[in-house]
Amino acid sequence: MATQSTVPPRTNGSLPRVDGPLKVSGAAMYSSDYNLAGMLYAVPVCATIASGKITKLDVSRAAAMPGVKAVYHNGNIGKIFRAGPPSGFNGILDEKRPPFEDNVVRYYGQYVAVAVALTFEQATAAANAVVATYEAAPINVSTKFTEAEAVEKPNEDSKRGDPDAAFKTAPVKIDETYGTPTETHNPIELHASVADFDGQNFTLYETTQAVCNSQDVLAQMLGVPIQNVRVISRFLGSGFGGKLWPWPHAMIAAQASRNLGRPVKLVVSRDMMFQNVGHRPRTQQRVRLGATPDGKLVALMHDSLNHTSMLDDYSEGCSEATGYSYSVPNLRATSAIVRRNVGTPTSMRGPGAVPGLFATESAMDELAIALKMDPIQLRLLNEPAIDEDKKLPFSSRHFVECLHVGAEKFGWSRYTPAVGSMKGTGEQSGLTLGWGVAGCSWIAESCESHAMVELLSNGTARVSCATQDIGTGMYTVLSNVVAERMGLPNDRIEVVLGDTNLPLGPISGGSWATASVIPAVLDAANNAIGKLFAIATAGPNAAFVDKEPKDLEFGDGKVRLKDGDTKTAIPFGDILTKASVRSATGNGKGAGSFGAPGRKHSQHSFGAQFVEVTWEPETARLRVARVVTVIDGGRILNPKPARNQIEGAVVMGVGMALFEATRYDARFGVPINNNLADYILTTNADAPNIDVTFLDHPDLVINALGARGVGEIGLAGVAAAIANAVHHATGVRVRELPIRIEDLLGMPAQRLA
Ligand code: MOS
Repeated sequence: MATQSTVPPRTNGSLPRVDGPLKVSGAAMYSSDYNLAGMLYAVPVCATIASGKITKLDVSRAAAMPGVKAVYHNGNIGKIFRAGPPSGFNGILDEKRPPFEDNVVRYYGQYVAVAVALTFEQATAAANAVVATYEAAPINVSTKFTEAEAVEKPNEDSKRGDPDAAFKTAPVKIDETYGTPTETHNPIELHASVADFDGQNFTLYETTQAVCNSQDVLAQMLGVPIQNVRVISRFLGSGFGGKLWPWPHAMIAAQASRNLGRPVKLVVSRDMMFQNVGHRPRTQQRVRLGATPDGKLVALMHDSLNHTSMLDDYSEGCSEATGYSYSVPNLRATSAIVRRNVGTPTSMRGPGAVPGLFATESAMDELAIALKMDPIQLRLLNEPAIDEDKKLPFSSRHFVECLHVGAEKFGWSRYTPAVGSMKGTGEQSGLTLGWGVAGCSWIAESCESHAMVELLSNGTARVSCATQDIGTGMYTVLSNVVAERMGLPNDRIEVVLGDTNLPLGPISGGSWATASVIPAVLDAANNAIGKLFAIATAGPNAAFVDKEPKDLEFGDGKVRLKDGDTKTAIPFGDILTKASVRSATGNGKGAGSFGAPGRKHSQHSFGAQFVEVTWEPETARLRVARVVTVIDGGRILNPKPARNQIEGAVVMGVGMALFEATRYDARFGVPINNNLADYILTTNADAPNIDVTFLDHPDLVINALGARGVGEIGLAGVAAAIANAVHHATGVRVRELPIRIEDLLGMPAQRLA
């Protein structure tokens, strides 16, 4: 086990992002920024039915239009193989059907053809000129799920005791059903592929959160050896999970490039992104809680359903946090999927836990009200000593401290539980205040990663890894880690990411990229220093002739004798130059925790969300005014980007609670609000005042750094805390997100489908 002494000092949180200047000056190259010589543009043709068959596809007019090089479809694109099954973090994709594989349409907007032309405008015109004739079949995009229609019998995710019997006899009970809508990832950068086939090798500029997996999947589907595929993703305008795994447009662009022998660019339009590149599926969750009159939980049942597409079995996994959140002797959590005529769902920030905690943490609030008990007190009373699901101790759990610190910062001692009893003062005078609290958690893992660190003869260092920066700050974090280890300023460190030519790196997902890469980078840095010592002591041009590597130490970018005489210190660049060597190169590796056998601990991050809403009954105006969030995320390696992650997640949580929902028209299956005007996202004007606190307790079971990730946990629990605050202000309990003004005015829900 790791010891305290291996924990490196925390990096300087006030350092700005090292990639900031590249981004604000427009020099950062995003996938669709690549314009290659002779490049063609591809525009897909999307099905205008949600279920049925293509009986005829007339491309004759489109193919004859100016500039058009090809119109591909089921009959002429050529063989695209199937990828998978997954092995580790290879071979993963959510929509498994190769594009154009058959003439069956299973969701609105499914690609049925693609036009490739000299210009984007010509390709768009040609795509519009393709005439598809369909034989439509009945569709189902209903948001009402029943267990009877589940694909298979529900999966038992957690089970202990006899929950049915315990619930039956429990003195105080809650039995409610909660719903979260389909949510579409809306990173501002559109999904895109620029594919370049040179006769043997593919170079693919992809919007991907996982270049290594993309390389593997694309190689499998294109039917070529993996070393013939290079995937590049240097900058991403975020992804939120939507860009974790490849989508059909990537294979279409690559195949078109191979067929035509020219580079092909395909940018997925915003409206297509509501159909063809995943979404968080709708969930419907029944939660039953049973408790004693003094607030001890005796039974917890959490049975969830989510929709998936007609072919792929995507499970949201709403029980992710259910089994270990509270101490309760009788528990069952199940999940099942139902089929709908929608595109295949995928991971969205905090998959499973985020919608799951909306349900369970809303139910805990309802239970507190039924018990006439403070909602924080209820949670404190049911704090578990161990993970009762896995029967393992937690690697590090400070949920109680999150609640105490949050209550203190938020001012919870002033809380009065009666609905509408709290009134604003000062700027908030005339408004009713609503206060709500919720707990949150997220998995804490890491995975295998390799890295390379080079000390170069020009006095700079270069660190490289085939992971990505999706906007979370990976460039900055790695620059800081190397800066600290080497004693160099950040402007003498180059960080190279997002290219499968580099050493194997982790997916930018699960909040584990940072914790996965850093051990590999530190190992590589130490190995580079070892190489440098060898170079410094060997051969006639060695800087330290007659010395041995064991006599040397490294600090402030210099090598010196261990005897303490600082006058002997020589900059590493001078040592390499004198020896006529380009670089001292170290390779490093981190094993990661994910999937490791014989796990002795339950590994999670925790947090507490405190929310204040303001409510103006006269005008039905609701705002989230203030959020205090306390995160137990292990040691925080770099506070500035970490805080940035939590703030962004809280803003996303406001959207989840109040705005975001993809609506499918029940008649045609079309996502009708498929644009940034009608799909409402939180804007600056909607963003609350956010106070982020990190407890910063190192989790040394997880890794020597004590660090857990923070990309996702900030979103968990926010929607429940908002719904709880809304109930406190208005007396209306909304169990179906998003919370609409109509709900608060007592108007009947007029939800589509
Ligand atoms: Mo995250 S949903 O694992 O990109």
